[in-house]
Amino acid sequence: MSLLNLNHYTQNEILNIINIAIEFKEGKKIDFKQTKIIANLFFEPSTRTHYSFEVAANKLGCKTLNFAPDNSSLEKGETLYDTIRTFDSFDIDCLVIRHSQNEYYKQLQTINTPILNAGDGSGNHPTQSLLDLLTIYEEYGYFKGLTIAIAGDIKHSRVARTNFNIMKKLGMNVLLTGPENLKSDYGSYYDIDDIIHEVDILMMLRVQNERHINKQEILDYNTKYGINENRVKKMKQTSIIMHPGPFNRGMEITNDVVECDKSRIFNQSNNGVYLRMAVIYNAIK
Ligand code: CP
Repeated sequence: MSLLNLNHYTQNEILNIINIAIEFKEGKKIDFKQTKIIANLFFEPSTRTHYSFEVAANKLGCKTLNFAPDNSSLEKGETLYDTIRTFDSFDIDCLVIRHSQNEYYKQLQTINTPILNAGDGSGNHPTQSLLDLLTIYEEYGYFKGLTIAIAGDIKHSRVARTNFNIMKKLGMNVLLTGPENLKSDYGSYYDIDDIIHEVDILMMLRVQNERHINKQEILDYNTKYGINENRVKKMKQTSIIMHPGPFNRGMEITNDVVECDKSRIFNQSNNGVYLRMAVIYNAIK
């Protein structure tokens, strides 16, 4: 079964995936050791998603193929469809795909091999949202009524879009905050200083054009929109800070906050392994 987005997932289906991930994490689910073949096809750069899928597949006893776009027939002009159709013809068990095109998977509807979407353009990042939900569930044990602020470059973020939709469906109160020019066409926006004291979760996002701005602008960004020690002090005692990564130390998050007590950033990347074990398991069991 493919996982392309979370649009049609019910609360029970989300909880079911989270519970499978927890069983893997706790070492309880060990009845799945089969030699299946998973192809990791990352047409865009990735560290967390790519290599946590790789670790997840290894922990499940699967073998992996790691596609290198720069050393493939893409360089000879082969299309996305023909590349994927070729892997489909190899009789492998699962395709993990990241591509810069929103909803690239719509052109792949005739592909028989299950597809796990590892991120499409600014559209969806379902496994990131699921691992974020797993991290929140481990912290609180429920979703309904929790308040999350998603902060930063909402406009370009597939993580923000996917989380906004699924978290609203789960009954969470989702607030958005960030610069005017990076606002999305959905959601309600607030000044970070007006909401920082009431959030249960603060989810920071990377500014995606960080290489084009100077040092002063980086400092200004943090002062206006980012998380730093002063803002951490205003947060509730029980609240947590998340970031899907990669993060810009000093920009949306200061160095001292990355691994502070409230930070769950590396819990998220750890959970990525077990959550991805769960989605691979669901796809090929
Ligand atoms: N969070 C995330 O998708 O990170 P990568 O781009 O490193 O996979």
